Amino acid sequence: MPDYQNLLVEQHDRVLLVRLNRPKQLNALNDALMDELGAALTAADADESIGCIVITGSERAFAAGADISAMASWTYMDVYRTDYITRNWEALRRIRKPVIAAVAGYALGGGCELAMMCDILIAGQGAKFGQPEVKLGILPGAGGTQRLPRAVGKAKAMDLCLTARNMSAEEAERAGLISRVVPDDQLVSEALAMATQISGMSLPIIMMIKESVNRAYEAPLSEGLLFERRVFHAAFATEDQKEGMAAFLEKRPAQFKHQ
Ligand code: CAA
Repeated sequence: MPDYQNLLVEQHDRVLLVRLNRPKQLNALNDALMDELGAALTAADADESIGCIVITGSERAFAAGADISAMASWTYMDVYRTDYITRNWEALRRIRKPVIAAVAGYALGGGCELAMMCDILIAGQGAKFGQPEVKLGILPGAGGTQRLPRAVGKAKAMDLCLTARNMSAEEAERAGLISRVVPDDQLVSEALAMATQISGMSLPIIMMIKESVNRAYEAPLSEGLLFERRVFHAAFATEDQKEGMAAFLEKRPAQFKHQ
């Protein structure tokens, strides 16, 4: 593994566990951390021994947002010319393997936005989600005004973005932002168990499912259904489809080769 300054990275079988690691700053997201995260995820995407990725933070914070001390003195020209925020975050959108956000503590501002860029969010009971940028005289800048309404609906997204209040894990699950709430001390083990289960499936099929579900966000229903049908047909070109169906008929576990 490369020697990261702002991440702790471990591989567990076919799962890469990435811990954001700026504990004194509650994992505030600066350029250095985001560059490393982009590099780690891009490398994992290309690594055949990895089938699923988990991103987590500390017990106190998944991430408390973009780094305010780095941003405080910036001018419009600094931000516009360097494309701060977007430049570093685009790498995450290109990851084709599933990425799970395991959230404990604060997921605020860019921290909430980072979690929302992941494919599945699970949270510890004490997790807190919010978009408090309005208190800083800015607005969410890494997709918060777009992904939050898609996840929780317009009313709750407006409520969170305009009042800066935090949302508990329980409320986030009710609203559909996250898929599971687990005891705080079991968060990482639950996320690893989920990732291990996913990484045991056929990787090309998992990638096709991720691509198809993401279409539901970006395309009208008729286009999404057409895309799904084409990808469904493509699944029959994989060896794993033959193995998966043969294993069912022979009443044995499937041994996928990820091809
Ligand atoms: N950037 C930089 N440093 C941060 C930070 C951030 N986003 N969040 C916390 N820290 C630092 C604090 O400055 C503090 O540092 P010092 O010990 O050197 O003073 C340390 O982390 C611990 O924080 P607190 O003492 O504030 O801890 P707390 O438990 O009292 O409060 C908190 C925790 C409620 C999360 C509070 O730290 C907080 O409100 N943080 C800012 C949250 C925020 O506004 N996030 C949005 C950022 S803007 C953004 O993300 C833009 C975007 O859309 C991309």
